[in-house]
Formats: sequence, structure tokens, C-alpha cells
Amino acid sequence: MSERTLVLVKPDGVARGLVGEVLSRIERKGFTLVALELRTLDRATAESHYGEHAEKPFFGELVDFITSGPLLAAVIEGREAISSWRTMMGATDPAKAAPGTIRGDLATVMSENVSHGSDSPESAAREIALFFPHL
Ligand code: PPS
Repeated sequence: MSERTLVLVKPDGVARGLVGEVLSRIERKGFTLVALELRTLDRATAESHYGEHAEKPFFGELVDFITSGPLLAAVIEGREAISSWRTMMGATDPAKAAPGTIRGDLATVMSENVSHGSDSPESAAREIALFFPHL
């Protein structure tokens, strides 16, 4: 089934020059790029994006980090895009992410894990509407 999901290249990935690497993997996989934008999030948007983690001890740190510089937001489309993109990213903790995944290949630090992907159809719909309300 064709799905859409939200992809972020987080501020660490943009600062390290990994936008091309991440987009290249998306294109080589065969996903369609539906929307693409470089932007710096304000705190309200970041708090809304990560709203489900508001009670977590790392929430403040997460918002500080995601607003710390420009990020790349994209919507990609393809067969089982939500779960497939999360497989391509690898485990949240880069130390546990398999080789061949984005986090397994390109990151070591838990919070600076290069990329984000929606975790369910409901999250994808909410996150896409937040970043790209015209879609
Ligand atoms: S949880 O607790 O399982 O729901 O959290 P998880 O889905 O693994 O992670 C949610 C997002 O928070 C980031 N994260 C952290 N940031 C900073 N410090 C710590 N300790 C930490 N743990 C998790 C993690 O990268 C997830 O961000 P996204 O953008 O969704 O990948």
C-alpha cells in the first residue's frame, strides 16, 4: 500500500553535511519526494511535533536540539513508506543501530541521530499536516 511519511534530517545531520547522503538513500530506494524544505523550527512547532514525549525527562533537551539550527523536512511516498523508512534509519540509539542503516552508519550519540521518521499512520498524518499544511 502506498503511504506518505514525514522525514527530518535533524540539525546535526544538516550541520555535518549529510543531507545529500540521506536524500540519496531515499531516491535510490525508489521513494518519491513529495515535499522538501529547509527550515529552523520555533519552539512551539517543535513542542507540537514531539508532543507525545512531553512527559519524558529528555523533552526539554529534545526541543533545544531540534530548534538549534536548520533541519530538512520532507514528505516521501511509496509502498509501506512509514515502516520502511524507519527500517532504513535503524534503531533510535545509534550504538544499537545495524550497519547499513543511516544511524548505524553515520551516528554515535543518542540525541544526535541524524534523522526522524513518523512511527504510525496517525503520527504521519499529524506530522505532515504540521510541517506541510498545504498537502
Ligand atoms: S520512547 O521513550 O521510546 O517513546 O522514545 P523514542 O521513541 O525512543 O524517542 C523519541 C524521540 O526522542 C529522542 N530521544 C532522546 N533525545 C535525547 N535524549 C534521550 N535520552 C533520548 N531518548 C530518545 C529520539 O531520538 C526520538 O526522536 P525522533 O526524532 O522521534 O527520532
